[in-house]
Amino acid sequence: MSALVLHVTGARPNFPKAAPVIAALERRGVRQLLVHTGQHYDRNMSEVFFQELGLPEPDLNLGIGSGSHAAQTAAMMTALETVFLEERPDLVVVYGDVNSTLAAALVASKLGIRVAHVEAGLRSFDWTMPEEVNRVVTDRLSDVLLVTSADALVHLAREGVDPDRLHFVGNPMIDTLLRLRDRFDGSRVVAELSLPTTYAVATLHRPGNVDDPTTLARMVTALREVGDRIDVVLPVHPRGRQQLAASGLFDHPRVHATDPLGYLEFLGLVEGSTLVVTDSGGIQEETTVLGVPCLTLRPNTERPVTITHGTNRLVTTEDLTQHVDAVLAGGGPAHGLVPPLWDGAAGERIADIVVAGLPG
Ligand code: UD1
Repeated sequence: MSALVLHVTGARPNFPKAAPVIAALERRGVRQLLVHTGQHYDRNMSEVFFQELGLPEPDLNLGIGSGSHAAQTAAMMTALETVFLEERPDLVVVYGDVNSTLAAALVASKLGIRVAHVEAGLRSFDWTMPEEVNRVVTDRLSDVLLVTSADALVHLAREGVDPDRLHFVGNPMIDTLLRLRDRFDGSRVVAELSLPTTYAVATLHRPGNVDDPTTLARMVTALREVGDRIDVVLPVHPRGRQQLAASGLFDHPRVHATDPLGYLEFLGLVEGSTLVVTDSGGIQEETTVLGVPCLTLRPNTERPVTITHGTNRLVTTEDLTQHVDAVLAGGGPAHGLVPPLWDGAAGERIADIVVAGLPG
């Protein structure tokens, strides 16, 4: 039997990263299985992405769903252990920094199965973020560390990772963006909300921003002040939906809530926007490539290349409107450079490395 590569995905940000890797391995004739943990399960958090990105149907959906970090991760681990024991993959590929990533890396490494981590080495150095824990532990357990930016190489070298395990491959999420850019289309949302040509897109879902009522109140005040200046569209992640609705944010006549959007509509909306306000990780990268100013409502970022090269800037609730005013006056974040190897060929590079490491 030929070697088997098993991919584990589960949450929305995994899907655009996995799609080009799976496609490139398919082109090389590699036997693959795609396992979906079910961490995200709403149609517009998962299924829509599979359709739009041309991902194959998962071979298995574990249906784990939501829960506390411990309950969710433990349930994923138990289910994945059974799958890995049955399928005996030669390599498990994990993506990004979500709980599905960590669960798969832990189970595979304890079964002696090699782990490849796509998007290794990113560090916010903020241990209050669950994703930082997931990143550090996953990297420690990984045999093949596939890196999207040069800063990640520095972090991993400092942590003592054997240089032979490190590969600077570029950013597969950007492969997906470049491949599908022609099909981005935000026009339905623009029409439904009667948006003017100048509008902003906002996203807010990080636990550090929406779970604590005092912090949320500050976020809401700041976003309402943005709404005083420019129409704001906010596709609402299920996390924080109730809190945001109850906060009165959407009573503002120029702050418009929508359901979570699919990939093509969301990026169409972003591409057509004047600026983005976000606490997401991936959107910092997407705006950098699209050349849209991005104001990130966080004290830190694990993606500093989006600041040094791209259009990203870290902001606080206190200085957000000042930054919005600067962008509206034409003084948005400078640069506008695309980081090295964010060129649409990361999936191919990853596939070459994966194939070279498979048993003959
Ligand atoms: C997860 C990732 C985060 C990523 C985000 C993108 C972790 C630790 N966090 O956060 O890094 O930025 O995905 O979306 O893995 N829910 C639904 N329907 C769904 C999925 C979730 O209603 O399809 C609700 C549930 O109430 C759930 C909550 O959202 O409890 C949080 O979901 P969860 O997967 O635990 O974390 P995210 O906040 O989505």
